[in-house]
Amino acid sequence: MAGTNFHVHIVADTSVKLAGVRTALERKYGVTAELLGGTSVRRSEYHALVVNVDLRVVENIAALKKTLGSFSRVRKRIFLLDQTVHLCIAQAYALGATSLLTGPVNQTKLLSVLADRVSPGAPSPTETCDENEAATVGATAIASMFAAVANGTPIDVNGTKEAGSKIADQIAEKGLSDWLAAVRRHHEGTYQHCLLVTGIAIDFGLSLGLPRRDIERLYSAAMFHDLGKATIPLPILDKPGRLDAQERAIIETHPALGYDALKDNKNISSEVLDAVRHHHEYLDGSGYPDALCAENISDVVRILTISDIFSALIEDRRYKPSMPREQAYDILCGMQGKLEKPLVASFRQVALNR
Ligand SMILES: [Fe+2]
Ligand SMILES: [Fe+2]
Repeated sequence: MAGTNFHVHIVADTSVKLAGVRTALERKYGVTAELLGGTSVRRSEYHALVVNVDLRVVENIAALKKTLGSFSRVRKRIFLLDQTVHLCIAQAYALGATSLLTGPVNQTKLLSVLADRVSPGAPSPTETCDENEAATVGATAIASMFAAVANGTPIDVNGTKEAGSKIADQIAEKGLSDWLAAVRRHHEGTYQHCLLVTGIAIDFGLSLGLPRRDIERLYSAAMFHDLGKATIPLPILDKPGRLDAQERAIIETHPALGYDALKDNKNISSEVLDAVRHHHEYLDGSGYPDALCAENISDVVRILTISDIFSALIEDRRYKPSMPREQAYDILCGMQGKLEKPLVASFRQVALNR
């Protein structure tokens, strides 16, 4: 059980916030705290970091970047956000958050996130960092792109590709299941989805024996594919249950929005751009935004679409438990005429065995 030998460091931008978080934690954990931009006595190792800073203030972000540099190896980095705003969420992940809590500070929720998966046999503060490094780098890259699109600032395409390459190395070395577990443990929502799609597309490519340059196309397409969601309102993006017709129409703008955000970037190839725009097209012409038919749908898109649907089915959402991989694969098999049959058959071993 966690206790005072479980050490948490708090960073906040006001002394009131600092005191609030400290009070919520200090009966249960060893706590140190610092005011953003100030100084503090720190331990050499922490199990968790809790950040309660207003991320709408540009100066705070610069100051946090400086502070967080020395905590990059802390495996649990919880950000408290008082508002559920796209930009703040993207910014938090871009700064390396592994979990977010929104709304007023809630002691029960905070303690439960801290206690989550902390057991007597839990690894020491630094043991699992390397295992998660690619996931952290990937989430940071994706979140940075989302923040850039929301802010109207340039997108770091090459940084994102480098992150994709790290993910490919990790999956080639450790396999898909490790990746799925690491991503689900630490990330949520759209970032979890993009990381899962990337891992699944890479593993699908590896299982098909594709050369490295094709794997690169796949991970780039997967990392960028849902970038258009950066400007879709969160209440629609994260809505539990069915969307109405108007909400669906808004969601369905995301492939073209992503394409528009990337199309003038010289570092994006035409194949990747095509995949961003067309990852919701189906062979029978029933997809969107361009209702393409089979002959106009590339192999990269076909692989990405299968990986995307499978990933959406198996991901953890706050409002629904993740679907078992067998069941998700059965759904893919039932999508007659929409997906390439031989590819779905080849996907079987990725879906069930890898
Ligand atoms: Fe999408
Ligand atoms: Fe997607």
